[in-house]
Order: sequence, then structure tokens, then C-alpha cells
Amino acid sequence: MQAERRSDSPSLSARNLTGIDDLSDSDIALILSRAQFYADALRDGTVPRVLEGKIILSLFFEDSTRTRTSFDVAANRLGADVVHWNAETSSLKKGESFEDTVRTLSALGPDAIVMRHKEFGAPLTVAKIAACPVINGGDSWRAHPTQALLDALTLKRHFGEIEGRTVAIIGDIAHSRVASSNMELLPRLGVKLRVIAPEVLMPEKLPSDDIEKFTTLEDGLPGADAVITLRLQKERMESALIDSDAAYFKAFGMTHERLDLAGKDAVLLDPGPFLRGVQIDDALADDRSRFLYDRQVANGAPTRMAVLDLFMNKGASSPL
Ligand code: NCD
Repeated sequence: MQAERRSDSPSLSARNLTGIDDLSDSDIALILSRAQFYADALRDGTVPRVLEGKIILSLFFEDSTRTRTSFDVAANRLGADVVHWNAETSSLKKGESFEDTVRTLSALGPDAIVMRHKEFGAPLTVAKIAACPVINGGDSWRAHPTQALLDALTLKRHFGEIEGRTVAIIGDIAHSRVASSNMELLPRLGVKLRVIAPEVLMPEKLPSDDIEKFTTLEDGLPGADAVITLRLQKERMESALIDSDAAYFKAFGMTHERLDLAGKDAVLLDPGPFLRGVQIDDALADDRSRFLYDRQVANGAPTRMAVLDLFMNKGASSPL
């Protein structure tokens, strides 16, 4: 049995998802409610195949485990075909420019492009060239909008409502696209946001003056409902900014004791990959009642199903 189809067909104002700033408040609400719809449909086995006959071009210029696979799962669940393009075996190796490669692939007429790239703003360049929606799976430290959306869905499903909740993000705020997109999204959902990092990993300017900065866990954690840890993005540091993984863990690594500093009911999230003994100790990493990582990964599918459906079916009468 298919999930019940809705007769009203709300539509997004955004054409692409290159960053959270593409989305209006009602776009965000629509994506999160559609994501919840797909989470329920996945549980009930009632997913409508709303992307049957569509082709998604998957352009990952940078490594990925979770994001790429989760977009693939989302696309397959909705009936779309995914074509993977591999930078390593492409004509980029023969000297073709990035723009010409994108123009060539775009001429094949995909219905959407999902991409990841190490260059700042690369999805914006692709969006200018492509005739179809471009969905960003992460670029440089700038943006990772679907990760922020799935984090919001995870918080929403855990707490019921996230407005008024306090969330603390710990770690490499300066180099993390997950931090960047969450710093844009969570305050727009009414979350009181804190960032906790050593000075060297704290950006000079945060996207909003309402985000509180802390340099120690002892100051930043008390009263937080949820904590998000981040990997040290060493590939984006010009020199070693942190003495050693052990020194980082001593000051910023999460343990049960430290999570209890936030509160006995506080929960931990991490976008992955999480490094045991650096971001999180083994005992907390294995305690999936406090560490919601599996739920984040699982929520990646319905979140990306919502994004693909809403961006690819825009203008068409709503299939739901
Ligand atoms: C992150 C990424 O690649 O931006 N992971 C993810 O997408 N879930 C975070 C990271 O690499 O640290």
C-alpha cells in the first residue's frame, strides 16, 4: 500500500540547495515535514515512487561514505536512477576544465545533480551552468545543508520540538561545513546555539551574533540539551593547529562524565566519521541511548528523499 497522497501541493521557493541560505523559512519547514513523512513511509513500507523515470547525476569530487550512499538510497527508494561519475577516471585527468566537464555532463540532461567538491562555492558554479536542480553534498568548509537538515530532523524526532532547546557544537568550528550549515539552520529553528572550541579552531566571525562562544567544556556544556561533536578537519588546516589527538581529547573529548555536565538527559550527535579517543571515548561511542549517531545516519535517507522529491518535482502537481 502506498502512503496517502496529499491533494495540496506546497512547493519550494528555492531552485537549488547549495546552502541553507537558499531556503526560505517555509522551505525549511516543508523539507522537515516531508522528511518526517518519508521517515514514517519507510517504517510502514509505503514509500511512493515519486521519482520513477528520473535520472540523478552523482558527482563526488571528494571522498564520502555516508552522504553519497544516503543520497543513493534515497534516490533508489523513490524510484530514480543514479548515474555515478568518477573524477579519478574522467577527462579532468586529461586537462578538461571543471566548467567544461560540468557543461558536458549537464548536456546529458540529468533531472538533478548531487555533488561534493573541495572548492569553496563549487556548487554555485555548477548551479549557474546546469539546467536542473543542484543539491550540495558538501563543499569545502562552506556548506553541507542536507547534514544540517538531517541533524535538525534527528533533534526534532528526539525532543518532539526543537524550538527553545540548547545545542552545543564542539570542535573544529573553523573548518567544518557541518558547523557552518548548522550555525545557519539551527538558530532559524529557534535553537539556542553555542559553539565550544579552542581559540585556534574558532572562526573570527560567526554567522549570527546570537551564537554563544566558549573555549572550555566546563563553561559551555552546562544546560545543553544536545551536543554535536566534530572531527578535526586536518585536511583543511594549513599547519597542525592542535598539538596532538591526545591533547585534544583531554580538553574536548566527550565522555559520559562530560555529557552529564550538560545534563543527565543530554544526548550526543556527530555527523561522522567520528574518531574514537579523539572526539568521543569508546564507552560513550557505544552507548547508542545517549549517542544518536545511528539515528542521524538513518534520518539521512528520509531527509534526502524529501530534498530530492521537493527539488525534482517542483512545478509538477504534487505526487503526494
Ligand atoms: C562530514 C563531511 O564530509 O562533511 N561528514 C558527513 O558528511 N557526514 C564531516 C567530516 O568529514 O568530518
